[in-house]
Amino acid sequence: MARLTERAGWPVLQEHGREWEGVRLADLFEADPDRFVRHHRTFADALLVDWSKQPVTDTTLRYLLDLAREADLPGAIRRLLEGEHVNATEDRPALHTALRAAPGASIKVDGEDVVPEVMATRRRMAEMANAVHGGEWTGATGRPIRHVVNIGIGGSDLGPAMVCHALAERAQPGMRVHFLSNIDGRHLEAVLAEVEPAETLFIVASKSFGTQETLTNARSARSWLLEQLSEADAAEVVRRHFVAVSANTAAATEFGIDAENVLAFRDWVGGRYSLWSAIGLPIVLYLGAEAFEELLAGARAMDQHFADAELAENLPVILGLIGIWNNDVLGRETHAILPYDEALGLLPAYLQQGDMESNGKRVTLEGAPVDYPTGAVVWGGTGTNGQHAFFQLLHQGTRIVPADFIAVAEPPPGRADHHRILLSHFFAQTRALMRGKGADEARAELREKGLDEQRVEALVPHQVLEGNRPSTTLLLRRHDPWSLGALVALYEHRIYVESVLWGTNAFDQWGVEFGKQTAGRVLPHLEAGVAPGLFDSSTEGLMERALGWQEA
Ligand code: F6P
Repeated sequence: MARLTERAGWPVLQEHGREWEGVRLADLFEADPDRFVRHHRTFADALLVDWSKQPVTDTTLRYLLDLAREADLPGAIRRLLEGEHVNATEDRPALHTALRAAPGASIKVDGEDVVPEVMATRRRMAEMANAVHGGEWTGATGRPIRHVVNIGIGGSDLGPAMVCHALAERAQPGMRVHFLSNIDGRHLEAVLAEVEPAETLFIVASKSFGTQETLTNARSARSWLLEQLSEADAAEVVRRHFVAVSANTAAATEFGIDAENVLAFRDWVGGRYSLWSAIGLPIVLYLGAEAFEELLAGARAMDQHFADAELAENLPVILGLIGIWNNDVLGRETHAILPYDEALGLLPAYLQQGDMESNGKRVTLEGAPVDYPTGAVVWGGTGTNGQHAFFQLLHQGTRIVPADFIAVAEPPPGRADHHRILLSHFFAQTRALMRGKGADEARAELREKGLDEQRVEALVPHQVLEGNRPSTTLLLRRHDPWSLGALVALYEHRIYVESVLWGTNAFDQWGVEFGKQTAGRVLPHLEAGVAPGLFDSSTEGLMERALGWQEA
């Protein structure tokens, strides 16, 4: 597989990039009243994607699509969806799409149809949730389960947390969900302080069941619960209050979780793509099986679109290619995710892992170093809060930040007045970023305020906004599981599209593994209480100081 810069379409795109210098989005809108019509699509009457405020024309998209064809993107999409070993370094498929397959579908991994197993797990999750909601599954002292604590980190935390937060309005009556991820003991304490021990079900969620943070938190939670419920039989406490979700079921049972309380998923589910698997158990417990099914159905509809739509009409493809254009040709280094929606407040963090862990790669699938930027720095936060925090840089900073603005048209119950104001900012910001404010406009405004000419001229340079700042708008019709499923799947596939163009593997994470290994070499010395004299002077110096301060 060729590198991006070795493709015939690359110099064409680069030349086109040079032609873009000096082109203004505002002029494109003025010259073409149909710009919005041509550069947006509505998906299933539920999600509108508008890229008309991105620096692209039909020609740009044509060149990008040529490049995508040259990279055999259609073949790569097929290989992903059909379960080929697209994760070459770990020699396995990345089949998160099989987790949301329709009943009756058949998807084979190395010749074995995996759909029946996926369906069985989904049924088991629903049974567990129904037993909890119906009061048949009680705690060891007979109290109903009202609190669910998910203990997991990374992909075993961010997806379920994001979805539960986003759809909290659909929560089962009386249920509460908590997420414990950080090894920092303060996180454990904060979560334990919020739950009623006799009414709490802990889910130990770890694909590998070897993650230090998760296993340490799980052990501490178990000791705490046994202490809190010391009057009950210890084995019964663990049986009724602990379940596990893992691709390594042997390690989960070895840890002490009852075999019948272990839900499995396969190693072809990447951690950051796993919320659709048994890792989604907190979603089912908190929101119910029906909401989870709707979430899967929305994602499935997007999968179908990704599989079937022409490249030029394919939303994940279009967004991925615009990502390549911004990142590799126009040199944009970051990508902001800006939900104008409190409920989607965890989406930036979720997509940050999805994108940066997937596309933070520096060699191609063949191991050749790339000579072009790959994954952007993904960051973000909610609007309108961000407007009062970091938007100044978006408007007038020297860096251009392509941003995704996300909002829901439907107002939250009883708060239509707030929603109108929220949406006024939402629409205004993308327009302001695109249009900017010229010197004449700034001058006229200042004169209108009655300032003298000298002051006006002194202030004009500060009040000019050059505009031309790119954004994509994603407008959801409703706040519902289906739409959220479609939105998340859109981003998942966008990430893959970019990786295909870069020729990189979106499904491994060796850098993270190295961080874990290194921590493993440091810990014994902290336990022994002495800096070992084996590391660099900074690491040694820092360890020495921390140990000294701990003793003092
Ligand atoms: O952060 C690295 C990572 O490997 C993620 O990919 C994964 O989601 C997370 O750790 C947790 O891993 P596990 O589910 O195996 O505990």
